[in-house]
Amino acid sequence: MTDDEQEAFGVYIHWPFCLSKCPYCDFNSHVRHEAIDEARFQRAFTTEIAATAARVPGRTVSTIFFGGGTPSLMQPASVASVLDAITRHWTVAADAEVTLEANPTSVESTRFRGYRAAGVNRVSLGVQALEDRALAELGRRHSAREALDAVGVARAVFDRTSFDLIYARPQQTPNEWASELKRALAEAGEHLSLYQLTVEQDTPFAALHAAGKLKTPDEDTARALYDTTQEICAARGLPAYEISNHARPGGECRHNLIYWRAHEYAGIGPGAHGRLDIAGARHAIATEKRPEAWLMRVDTRGHGVVTDDVLTREEISDELLLMGLRLAEGIDPLRYAALAGRPLDAARITALREHGLVETTAAGRLRVTLPGFPVLDAVVADLAA
Ligand SMILES: C[S@@+](CC[C@H](N)C(=O)[O-])C[C@H]1O[C@@H](n2cnc3c(N)ncnc32)[C@H](O)[C@@H]1O
Ligand code: SF4
Repeated sequence: MTDDEQEAFGVYIHWPFCLSKCPYCDFNSHVRHEAIDEARFQRAFTTEIAATAARVPGRTVSTIFFGGGTPSLMQPASVASVLDAITRHWTVAADAEVTLEANPTSVESTRFRGYRAAGVNRVSLGVQALEDRALAELGRRHSAREALDAVGVARAVFDRTSFDLIYARPQQTPNEWASELKRALAEAGEHLSLYQLTVEQDTPFAALHAAGKLKTPDEDTARALYDTTQEICAARGLPAYEISNHARPGGECRHNLIYWRAHEYAGIGPGAHGRLDIAGARHAIATEKRPEAWLMRVDTRGHGVVTDDVLTREEISDELLLMGLRLAEGIDPLRYAALAGRPLDAARITALREHGLVETTAAGRLRVTLPGFPVLDAVVADLAA
């Protein structure tokens, strides 16, 4: 049995609030000017965990991930209460990975010890940039110094840390990015997430972009930025194990691997997504996105689920391609064939291989090559067709 066939079950908890909305972000995050009733959210999380566990009982939880929004706005006691509810309804593996996403401000880093005491053992910080001007343009509430101080506190408190940077920012040159990335690597623990700036629809950045006031790098520059990223990270021992994620061997985010390997996970909280295997069928589940409407739904129905679709073989195998080909390890074609009920198209694979976009490993896995990653969407579309 290879790693990606081993049973894994993750629990994702969504905290949907932020202190302000960053102009590039289209995550399900909301700003409230009145205090958040955390006790009410704690009760609702517990209720939804119980309802989910009733549908998929007996699982052993290998990873838990508090994402957002900004989960580092939660009190450590709220995090502890959610972890306690998960432990009461499922078995949590002794070596479970428990991650919390944090914004890197000094206020938030003072809570890190509380999170560790609550059971969190990994933090992922949204540093985004190490240049104050870029941070201001991204609408961030922290300076580069403050972010690096938060990284330092995180590394002192947790054995496992990661931070995120956004590159391919307006006017950024490959040389500037190379120097910023090297400074970041000097501060990094075992893991870094490096995202190219995406102009998401219906965000303030989309409006600026449409008005010609925000210029993202052209295709060649974006490609040079991507290549620079791969070279520098690989040379410093953090190669990409996923299109935007880099780790020292063994430092990969086990929770995100569950998504990319198309394993099973529960989504708890407003706008959370899950994939649950119930009576031999794979269910794609999503909850109500609006926080207050989610609370009401959980109060009245015991859960916030608004979509619960049984996926067809085609949809399941397409998801395996879409998610699995993001990984450097690629996918097992035999698993694909078992899920799809038919093998991948050999002629298409040959054509993609001849273009240098995919390769087959000695172990028989199909993976995208380094030149293939920038055109990953096209490769997946071709294989799924
Ligand atoms: C849910 S957010 C992170 C958590 C935390 N609220 C923060 O901002 O620090 C996850 C990550 O997605 C990345 N991200 C969000 N919107 C993006 C965009 N439009 N383009 C590229 N990366 C983006 C950021 O690096 C961010 O840290
Ligand atoms: S990037 Fe993070 S802090 Fe900014 S709005 Fe999105 S979730 Fe909130």
